[in-house]
Amino acid sequence: MIILGIETSCDETGAAVFDSTSQKLRGHALFSQIAMHKIYGGVVPEIASRSQLEKIDIVVAEALLNANTTIQEIDAIAVTNRPGLVGSLLVGICFAKGMAFAHNKKLIGIDHLEGHIFSAFLQADGSINQTLQFPFIAFSVSGGHTALYLVKGFGDYEVIGHTIDDAAGEAFDKIAKILGLGYPGGAVMEKLAAEVNFEDFFTYPRTKTLHHELITFSFSGLKTAVLYDLVKRGAYQMTTGPIVEAITPELQRQVASSLLVCMGDIFEKRVKQALRKYPEVSAITFVGGVACNKYLRQRLLRLCQNNRKQFVVAPPAFCTDNGAMIAFVGGYKADQGLFDDQELDVIRP
Ligand code: KG4
Ligand code: ZN
Repeated sequence: MIILGIETSCDETGAAVFDSTSQKLRGHALFSQIAMHKIYGGVVPEIASRSQLEKIDIVVAEALLNANTTIQEIDAIAVTNRPGLVGSLLVGICFAKGMAFAHNKKLIGIDHLEGHIFSAFLQADGSINQTLQFPFIAFSVSGGHTALYLVKGFGDYEVIGHTIDDAAGEAFDKIAKILGLGYPGGAVMEKLAAEVNFEDFFTYPRTKTLHHELITFSFSGLKTAVLYDLVKRGAYQMTTGPIVEAITPELQRQVASSLLVCMGDIFEKRVKQALRKYPEVSAITFVGGVACNKYLRQRLLRLCQNNRKQFVVAPPAFCTDNGAMIAFVGGYKADQGLFDDQELDVIRP
């Protein structure tokens, strides 16, 4: 089957073509709206959906071109239909439905989170990582989600841990905003932390997991702890916000570095906990936008080496939102005959 994958759940317009017979990603294209949301310090849903509408046909055409594939060759169109911003999701779904109707193609609705979970199979040259074996634990960390999954097969997975409040990427973004570092914050913070060699200056609290069946994360308390620490250092006022003159480049680097080390400790502890619970897994995968972070990758790699587990990360282009992961999931759903009809719609949580 040759699948066209479309991703429009948030602020990225992505499309890709995947051939499930040869297990090869033929090509992909992406338009990121980051520059449009930067001045607002976060994603503005109305701007996101309008931009999706402006870009969707161009990105899909570009993906087909890069894949050297015509629409006639496509067997099915896979499109993200949950979870995400409703307006953004609707653009991709309506476009996919229109295209499927006009060209008589099958449709497949894809869970964005399933896309991230299986993105670890994607390699930079478009081939599929054949060394990654089930069962494995997928650690998916982005601006909207932070969760651990036990993955038993294609489309066969269960949540074994999740955040009870903010996502880890959201914590990076919100703290970066307070520090005047712009949006999104994760990559900038990594750069600043590297300048001071990932030293732990302020030792922020390492949140504990609740005594639950599930492994839990909590990042809203960490964000508040950083805020109170900034108040203590005379760099933030609860009523008026950041005190710009007091937020020096040195303080920015120290906060970024302390935060990253704290995140590293939290991630390591939770993944260790997951490995204790599921010792039978062969690998840990690290996916989602935050998985672009080289420091965090290194920490988890070392943990996996110490526990004799394979560690797999996707190339950065497939960590952040993209069409390739949707086309890939569409590929195995199509092979299993799991199609949707023209009633396909946004599924709300
Ligand atoms: O997966 P993604 O593109 O979108 C969502 O589904 O949320 O992830 C975006 C998130 C943002 O919060 C961003 O700050 C974070 O990924 N991020 C990073 C890095 N690059 C992107 N976080 C830490 N370090 C990075 N290098
Ligand atoms: Zn995502």
